[in-house]
Formats: sequence, C-alpha cells, structure tokens
Amino acid sequence: MIAQLEQFHAIAVSALAHRMKADGRSVIHMEFGQPSTGAPAAAIAEAHRVLDSDAMGYWESPALKGRIARHYAETCGVAVDPAQVLLTCGASPALVMALSLRFTPGARVALARPGYVAYRNNLRALFMEPVELPCGEAERFQVTAAALEALDPVPDGVILASPANPTGTVIPEADLRAISDVCHARGIAIISDEIYHGITYGADALSMLAVDPDCIIVNSFSKYFSMAGWRLGWLVVPPELIDQARARMGNLFLTPPSLAQHSGLIAFDCREELDGHVRTYARNRDLLLAALPEMGLRRIAPPDGAFYIYADIGHLTDDSLAFCMALLRDTGVATAPGVDFDPVDGKRFIRFSFAVSTALVEEAIDRLRPWFAQRGRT
Ligand SMILES: Cc1ncc(COP(=O)(O)O)c(C=O)c1O
Repeated sequence: MIAQLEQFHAIAVSALAHRMKADGRSVIHMEFGQPSTGAPAAAIAEAHRVLDSDAMGYWESPALKGRIARHYAETCGVAVDPAQVLLTCGASPALVMALSLRFTPGARVALARPGYVAYRNNLRALFMEPVELPCGEAERFQVTAAALEALDPVPDGVILASPANPTGTVIPEADLRAISDVCHARGIAIISDEIYHGITYGADALSMLAVDPDCIIVNSFSKYFSMAGWRLGWLVVPPELIDQARARMGNLFLTPPSLAQHSGLIAFDCREELDGHVRTYARNRDLLLAALPEMGLRRIAPPDGAFYIYADIGHLTDDSLAFCMALLRDTGVATAPGVDFDPVDGKRFIRFSFAVSTALVEEAIDRLRPWFAQRGRT
C-alpha cells in the first residue's frame, strides 16, 4: 500500500496566476513562501568565479560545515563539532533525514495544526503517524508544553517550527525550555525546524540547540539567505547520530550542489545585504498589519518572524481555496489557502506571503481594499 500524500493547493492558485499573466494580467505573487530577491551579490560573484576553477564533483565543503558550527557558538554559545553538521539539499531532505534518524515506521509525531504541510506528508511517506495539535490564537498557533504533557498516549516525537509557517509566530525561550522539560520527562524526541531564523521582527529566535543538545536542528539557505533555488540546507545532529546521518545522506542524496556550497559559505557573511531584505519584510509587515484590519481581517496573530500573515476570513467564507481563486481572478493578488496548513480549520484562513517588494505590497493593498469592501460571504 502506498502512502497517500496531499498536493499543495497553492499550486492550483499559482497555476491560475501564471495563466492570467500569460493573458496579459498583472499578478502579485503572495502565494508562495520564498523571497523575491536573489542570492547576495557576493555569493553570485563567487559562483561565477568557481565555475571556471572547480570540477564540481561530489563534495562536502569542510569550510561551510565549520562556518555553520561557528554560527551556533556565536549566536547561542553552543559548541557544535563540524562533524555534527550535515549539508543537505535544503530543509526538505533534512527533514526526511531527521525523521528517519529518530523514528521508525509507526512512530507517532506531534506537530502544530496549522503547520507546514510537508511535516504531515513526510511523516505519512515514512509510514509514521502525524499527531496534530490544534493550535489557535490563544497558543499563538504554537505547540505548548501543556499540550505535550496532556497527550495520551505519549508521542514518540514532536516537530517544532519557530518562527512558524504559516503564522510567523515564535516560541519564546521560556516556552522552549518548558517544552524541552516535558519532552525529557516523557521521552519525546524533538526536531526543530529553524528555517526562518534570521527573519524576526523583535528579539532573535533562539535555537533549540541552546536549550536541548539532544534535539535535531533543520535549517536552510532558502529563506534568510534568499537562496531557495540553490537547494542548500543543513542538519545538526547529536554526536551519537553522526554515523547514521552520514549513511542516510550518502545513500539518499549524496551531496548538495557544489556550486551552492561555495556560494553559501560567502552568503553567511553577507549580513548587511540580507538584513536589508529583513528590513523590507518588516516594512511590508507593518503595512499589512495596518491595512488588513481596516478591510475587516482583524483576527491575525501578528507574526514575530518569517514573512507571512495568516488571517481569519471565517466571516467571509468556509472555502479558503475558492476564496483565494476568486480573490486572484478579481484582483490579480495570489495568496495561499489555509487548507494547505490545516485540513480542519484552514477552510477559514488565508496566508499572505509578504516576501515581495514594498511597492508590490502597497499595490496589493490598493487592490484588496475595494475588493474586501464590497465582498459578501461566499
Ligand atoms: C517551515 C518550512 N520548512 C521547510 C521548508 C522547505 O524549505 P527548503 O527545502 O527550500 O529548504 C519550508 C519551505 O517553505 C518551510 O516553510
């Protein structure tokens, strides 16, 4: 029997957006979670340089592993041996590796609902069982220690995402510590997806590694580093898992692209340019948080990080996919339906990705305002 996985519904929205564009319509892409900017200039220059000098064989960059290990020492005072760092082709394969390193088929793994759809789907693909924790505004859409404490039977693991997709909410340090305590007491293994680290609008998000050296960290160059298509990410695993992690990487994926590794090393030190993108996101976030409530979208958990706003549209519809399609057809603004993140309550939510230019966010607001003003319940 093969595992049945769901497709991203946002793909249908995006397909319509591209058809509309081909027909000459102006479309603003706020449906997918990726920066509209490219890699940092110095990282691109490095790619041009090494193309002429490197044969691009299978390769793992020792310098990049060392740089990533140093990142944890610098940002949260945790000593990581570069051998604990595995370079991957983005967070997506890192997640598959993390799950297969920690759990066996049949394992029950808790996660927040709403959450990134691939968590559920990867668990199912590996014949594991997602245990969805319904998380609302009261929990700021995040897993809590109390929810993990209350689970019966005890799950084998939990996937944390802070900042989260689709809400951008962050788990504060005290709550990370409380979650870690419950997990230790109950024998729950932690996988922490930290792909949105670096994109926060207040305090930096703390790595779970600073709290719990036994957890597995998933991270990537796709978001803060603005290098989604370069397919580069990493895992940090506890020392006892290094050998099995390396065996999985070698058999399942071999190595990430050499070109991306060369450029990724340079990108690590392009903070000024990359922080400039975060400042743009911060402006976009402020504009949307001011404008959306005026359009009637008042139930929003303001994002602490990432580049998303997850808004309740329950007063307008109970079919978020149809709503996104109508919104796109009428205004040219493409968004993601909540059903991609929450199969139960997502029919009354919509996600705006604001990783576009501020001018486009302003244009989107100008188009949305009259549309919401005359919108009745569908
Ligand atoms: C929370 C989260 N984790 C992981 C990924 C996968 O990212 P990638 O494979 O590009 O690193 C995404 C992509 O949007 C995401 O939102």
